Amino acid sequence: MFGIFIGLNQERKIMTTLQLAKRNIKEKGFLDIETPKSVDFVKEIKKLRKKKNAIILAHYYQEDAIQDIADFVGDSLALAQKAATTDADIIVFAGVHFMAETAKILNPKKKVLLPDLKAGCSLADSCPPADFEAFKKENPNHIVVSYVNTSAEIKALTDIVCTSSNAEKIINSIPKDRPIIFAPDRNLGAWLIKKTGRDMLLWDGACMVHEAFSIDKILKLYAENPGSEIIAHPESEAHLLKVAKYVGSTSGLLNYVKTSKAKTFIVATEVGILHKMRQDSPDKILIPAPVEDDSCNCSECFYMKMNTMKKLYLCLKHELPHVEVDPELSKKALVSIERMLELSK
Ligand code: 13P
Ligand code: SF4
Repeated sequence: MFGIFIGLNQERKIMTTLQLAKRNIKEKGFLDIETPKSVDFVKEIKKLRKKKNAIILAHYYQEDAIQDIADFVGDSLALAQKAATTDADIIVFAGVHFMAETAKILNPKKKVLLPDLKAGCSLADSCPPADFEAFKKENPNHIVVSYVNTSAEIKALTDIVCTSSNAEKIINSIPKDRPIIFAPDRNLGAWLIKKTGRDMLLWDGACMVHEAFSIDKILKLYAENPGSEIIAHPESEAHLLKVAKYVGSTSGLLNYVKTSKAKTFIVATEVGILHKMRQDSPDKILIPAPVEDDSCNCSECFYMKMNTMKKLYLCLKHELPHVEVDPELSKKALVSIERMLELSK
């Protein structure tokens, strides 16, 4: 009898904790609930995923444990392609907000969960929709190509979405006589101008992680490691891309390391990628590119690292927080995403 009394009391306490966490979810971005130390997140996440027919999609920049438990780990193009074809009932997106939002636009009827709604993106934030709409109005004849790292509002103002994997192909698919606006990344844009020879109008946005690398320290490391190769994500600055042996998306970088004959690589992108790179290429020496400011962990994307195993467990358990997109906005944004998927087949 006493045992039942304790049980009910405990249950009531849990209920109120959960209700409180639900009430605070907008402000916090996630369910802020204590979990007993005994909870085995790996075991519980696997159980919940099976029970709920959920799929966990993770980006290469997620923490190692999240990448290890995910059903699928990929770059932003592969993740969008996977989200477009999954038959799971629930998509749990271990990535940042624009990625989960893209998955929701592709699956308006499905529940799309994001462990922390505040996992944003400095690049997406650098393109406010009202300013971009005005810029577009000033250049009415231009075709708008936007990087997937944008909000649904920007995608709705876009003709074709692209990622760093397919950007060159997408720009090349546009008739030569059509002028192009490219948004929001100025570095990827400048890189594409060089690669395609197209004179595009660039939005002045950037990623704080990829602009944090120190060219001087990278060149010093390069000199200290004869035979090494510098490889970089195209969101990095032009002076770095100029000295890189290979420039490509996260999946491009992974493939390059696997196939290159070189032994040592200086890797200029978010450090989370080293987990998969080490798994794929255990015989290679991988050196994360140093950043300008030694006092910060600037080569870690603060937003990507907001997701944790605990938040992943809680969001799968309680199916919160989920990403919502206004249905009208979603329909408009879907057009530019579908054009990208069609051109990427
Ligand atoms: P990828 O498309 O190469 O995965 O890059 C995504 C991203 O956010 C890079 O900062
Ligand atoms: Fe955005 Fe940069 Fe983080 Fe990629 S690394 S999600 S572009 S802030």
